[in-house]
Parts: sequence; structure tokens; C-alpha cells
Amino acid sequence: MTSLIMIFGATGDLAHRKLFPSLYRLFERGRLNKYAVIGVARRSMSNDDFQQSVKDSVLAALGNKDNLDEFASHFYYQSHDVADSSSYAELNKLAHEIDENYQLEGNRIFYLAMAPEFFGPIALHLKSDGLTNVKGYKRLVIEKPFGHDLESAKELNKQIRTAFSEEEVYRIDHYLGKEMVRNIEVIRFANAIFEPLWNNRYISNIQITSSETLGVEERGRYYETSGALRDMLQNHMMQMVALLAMEPPIKLTTDEIRSEKVRVFRSLRTVVGDEVNDYFVRGQYGEGMMADKSVPAYRDEQMVDKESNTETFVAGKVMIDNFRWAGVPFYIRTGKRMAAKSTKIVVQFKDIPMNLYYQTEKMLNPNLLVIHIQPEEGITLHLNAKKAGGHLDAQEVKLSFANTGINAMNTPEGYEKLLYDCMRGDATNFTHWDEVAYSWAFVDKISEVWEGTKAEFPNYASGSMGPQAAEELLEKDGFFWWPVTDLDVDNCK
Ligand code: BG6
Repeated sequence: MTSLIMIFGATGDLAHRKLFPSLYRLFERGRLNKYAVIGVARRSMSNDDFQQSVKDSVLAALGNKDNLDEFASHFYYQSHDVADSSSYAELNKLAHEIDENYQLEGNRIFYLAMAPEFFGPIALHLKSDGLTNVKGYKRLVIEKPFGHDLESAKELNKQIRTAFSEEEVYRIDHYLGKEMVRNIEVIRFANAIFEPLWNNRYISNIQITSSETLGVEERGRYYETSGALRDMLQNHMMQMVALLAMEPPIKLTTDEIRSEKVRVFRSLRTVVGDEVNDYFVRGQYGEGMMADKSVPAYRDEQMVDKESNTETFVAGKVMIDNFRWAGVPFYIRTGKRMAAKSTKIVVQFKDIPMNLYYQTEKMLNPNLLVIHIQPEEGITLHLNAKKAGGHLDAQEVKLSFANTGINAMNTPEGYEKLLYDCMRGDATNFTHWDEVAYSWAFVDKISEVWEGTKAEFPNYASGSMGPQAAEELLEKDGFFWWPVTDLDVDNCK
């Protein structure tokens, strides 16, 4: 791949933890043919110091590596004021020189790894100060959050679109870089045993959990304006819903896949006003014990209001009102300071019409297909089979496929895949504006209600699986959350 990559926010955490190591992995695999990187950030720094920081971040993430000096020698640093046109003019001059030296064919990727308030202004400057005026391709990679609600997202989009066309905008949702999230489509559409059953005749409900053990850490200021709804649900959780619910695309092209996902967003049942609290539950963590250590309540975290009304947990029932999914609830939940770090999807199939076999003590288990997204990667199919011995008792058996151990060492990290996709010009695993807009429209209706009423927080202890109301959400439909830790691949042998 031939590109000049400009990383805005090159001294930040994301660049160091994810972007530099991912670029190194691409380099190591021979996927960066001609490349150079300009790190852009406010503070002044020499190229040498910047290159050293790049090497340090690769060492920290990947350990000792070959050819690190050669890799880092393609990195340059430019101190930059995002609001000042003369800064952009200097950056453009440097970009032209580097482009010529490395023969980068005028291809430019602008990666905005910055605070979101700068996204719009930077995009406008890139255009007005001539940086987007190139003979090769120009692409904008933009981190979340893409706006704060539908209105602000529209405004941001308008600013970006003055400089880049929709095809040139790569909105990152890092869940779409995860191996098993990408696998959802293959599991669904490449298996004759699943797709015919993938509908409201055979599936009773689908559960998606993304639980975290970490608290808000030092991100209190951002999180207070976001909460779990905007931070996780509007993007990552809704993307997983779309991949699980979409119709098979007619071809595996970016446009076809995205348009099927958009159709899911268009079929979401919008819940408004009083209905919101029937379909969604919010929570905020109180103090509690995590790995034998006591941890503070959210309201006692740094830069968090002592009376904060911000939710650190959300669970919801999402209904997709189309022919395939009518009547099938998609239950989603995500939260901080929960009992386990785990992202899993459980597809629960309907009971068979007549139960001939009983397990020793309980009724037959429903068939489950569990997709393990993280920390372990794989799938488990829960079946019933005859218990060894004399009687015709059934027992649950689990067929597991774990990615780990087979090719874990070679599985590229999410950001590596996303960067590579962007260089190849493949926007399939980035969010299209329509997806962003529909999911904001959906989420805005929930936040309107929640922001207008004070919640009784905290309502779950750190180290638990969330508030009691999240259990009741399923109980009233006759279901329960499958416990995520019991479903681990390790427990499924
Ligand atoms: C980010 C959120 O998008 O996703 C964080 O801003 C969250 O609050 C993170 O911790 C979770 O990502 P992962 O990959 O660890 O599940």
C-alpha cells in the first residue's frame, strides 16, 4: 500500500497504544510498501524524539521487534495549531516533500485521533488550506464519538462533507475490527444449518452483552457527557444488532452490506416517552469489590459530579419490526464495573414442539449458539444428546470452536485490520452516515427521557452484573440473561 498517513493527535493515547503498533504489524507483514507518517500534535518535538516514542510504543505493545529503526525512520513530526491556517500551510509543505521523497503518489490518509470538538474544524481547514488538493486519493479516518446526538452529528457531517465525499470518510467503530464481529456474517451466511433458522420461527431471543470490569478511569469529563448509551450502545452495540439482524446482501460489496445494515436501522421500533422505561434500564455503579479490592462509586470518581445522573450501565430490549424478526427481542446490555470483562452474543432457539426427553433434574435446555467476541474468540453450540448409560435421558453437550490457540498469534488486532482496510479503500467495516444518523435518532429518544428525570443512582454494586431491573426486563418476557461466565469456552469442554 502506498500512502502518506497524517495522524492528528500523534502524542495521544490512541496513537501510542493502538495506531503505532498496528502500523508496525502491517509493516512486518509487508503490507506497507511505500509509506510515511506525519505525526501531528500541539507540543513541539523533534523528529528523533517522535521516532523514539513510536519505537517505544511498539516495544511496549509487541515486545522486541526486528527492523524497528527502519520502520520508525518513515515517521515525521509536525507541531501544529489546529485553528491556525499557517500551521496547515507548513504541514502541506512537509507533506509534499515527503510525498516526493517516498513517491507516495499523492495518496493521503488523515487520521483524526483527537478530541471530537476538533473533528469539524480540522476537516474544514484541510480543505480550505489545500491539504485535500491531491492527485491521489484522500481519506478521512475519524474516531468516535461522531456527534453527541443527531443534531450535532448532522452538523459535524456537514463540515466533514465540505472536504470529503461520503466514500472518503472512514468512521471508526473499533468493534467492526474485532475478529469475531467480522465472523458474524460468515457464520450466518456460510452455514446451511443456521441461516434457514435465523428468523422468528426458530429463534426466541438474542442477547448481546458487552460488560467491562474497568470503571470510568480518568475519562470522567468525557463520560459525564456521554454515559453508556452514547459511549457503547449507539455505536458498538447497535452495530452488532445490525450484523445479526441484516438480510443476506446480494453481494459482498461495501454498498450492499451497508445498505442491508441500514435497512435494519430503519426497522428499529422507536420507543418514545413513557415506553422508554419499559424497554430500557439504566444503571450507575456504586462502590463494591473487584478482585478482592474495594473500588469507589462512579460519583466518587475524578471529574464526576457528586450527584451525577449519568448511566454507566444500560440494558434494553430492541425490537426489529420487519418480516424476519417480528416478535423476537434483541436484548442488549453493557456497563462498566461489572463482574466480568466479556462480550458475547447468545442466540437462543425456540423450544422443540414436544419434549420427549427429560434431563435428570430439569427440562431440556434450549439450543444456544454462543458467539464469543472477547476475551476468548470462538463459537459454541449447545445441543442436547443422550446421556451415556442405560436411560434415554438427555443432557446438554457443547460443541466449541475456539480461535485462540489455532491462530491467535497471527490474528491481526482490530486497528490493524481497520487501517489496512482504509489503505485498500474498503469501507465495509466503517460506519456509513446513514447508520450513524438512524442510530442517533433511536438513541436520542431514550436520552431525552433519561436526561429529563433524575434516576435513583447508584443502583448496582461494582462487581455485579448490573441493576435488578435489568433482570426483570427479561423476566417479564419469560426469559433470563444467560450468565456470561458460564458460557466461556473454557467452561464448555
Ligand atoms: C470504547 C468506549 O469505544 O469502547 C470505552 O469509549 C470502552 O468506554 C471501550 O471501554 C470498550 O472496548 P473493548 O474493545 O474493550 O470492548
